[in-house]
Amino acid sequence: MAVLPVLADAYLIVSNGVISGYGSMKDLPSSIRSAATIDVAGRFVFPSFVDSHTHLVYAASREEEFVMKIKGATYEEIAAKGGGILNSAKKLRQLSEDELFECTVGRAWDIIRTGTGAVEIKSGYGLTVADELKMLRVAKRIGAETPLTVKTTFLGAHAVPKEITKDDYINLILQEMIPAVAEENLADYIDVFCEQGFFSPDETERVVERGKEYGMKPRIHANQLHRSGGVQVGVKTGALSVDHLENVGDDEISVLKNSSVMPTALPGAAFFLGLPFPPARTMMEAGLPLAIASDYNPGSSPSGNMPMMVSLACIKMKMTPEEAFNASTINTACALELDKTHGSITIGKKANLFITKPVSSLAYLPYAYGSNLVESVMLNGKIL
Ligand code: NIG
Ligand code: FE
Repeated sequence: MAVLPVLADAYLIVSNGVISGYGSMKDLPSSIRSAATIDVAGRFVFPSFVDSHTHLVYAASREEEFVMKIKGATYEEIAAKGGGILNSAKKLRQLSEDELFECTVGRAWDIIRTGTGAVEIKSGYGLTVADELKMLRVAKRIGAETPLTVKTTFLGAHAVPKEITKDDYINLILQEMIPAVAEENLADYIDVFCEQGFFSPDETERVVERGKEYGMKPRIHANQLHRSGGVQVGVKTGALSVDHLENVGDDEISVLKNSSVMPTALPGAAFFLGLPFPPARTMMEAGLPLAIASDYNPGSSPSGNMPMMVSLACIKMKMTPEEAFNASTINTACALELDKTHGSITIGKKANLFITKPVSSLAYLPYAYGSNLVESVMLNGKIL
């Protein structure tokens, strides 16, 4: 992860939406000298970010809870008072599919402008059969109606709605939601919020095993607030990734070592909630890879700005800029099974790129946190 190869004074050729060549300027093939060119002198050309964990589809922001948090309430206290995920569900249920799409599409364009080219989008603010399906249809439409590559995840097991017992809700997920999601082919993956006060490791396992029967591979919200057993159940069920990891120790690290699960840190959520950051250096020194995603959602990370996530990874998790860029491009692409087409500048991959403003070095990008240094964006070979 420490190695991020960089070519200075280089060319890159894009044809038919795909990267078809690159190299040193001195080796530029003469046959392509007459093609349309973009001069990027003084700038960096990066592979687009792959954001492997978001809750991009939601109805309304929750800044009232933000203020409660400032005054001392914890995430769990807010959730227990009907805030949190249930608050988002109440608002989302009132919107039609078209209205929900209109709320979401602006956020999709915002993340495109900050360099994201592929994104995973979860359900989990519907919590009824109809509203979960509505969320996933909107997520699919984001993929169809913007240049983003979208992968979708069914997260019915995000919270238990007030009007139903937990056992009944789990049965609803197993018997009705999962088959209905599969019937419309709405989800690539299945996720569970495995956490004290939400879903236990056993419940998580039941839900994801059912999802697997319907072709949805697991990825798990694990170890955000406690050492909840989420990492272990993720490894046991063959999850593609375990995400959050604010609360992991030696046990979780050694379990992950013997697996092909991608550990994924969500530094925006740790920052926003004031949680400890995942022990990135310890994990990497143990030989684990690490991915970085935004967790863009209205409750715990109201930003999908990947350059900011890279800065947080460097500043708060002591990752080098090279490690943080690898973590948010090729490693997240791997976690989303997009590594053959996304996540690096490789011949044959999609021409999903962003071009920076003129900057003095690679490290300047995470160093100058909060500056918008993405000057232009190319997705599917088209400058936007
Ligand atoms: O990833 N942890 C669970 N889900 C989201 C937060 C959801 C919310 O508060 O709306 C997360 O942090
Ligand atoms: Fe999340």
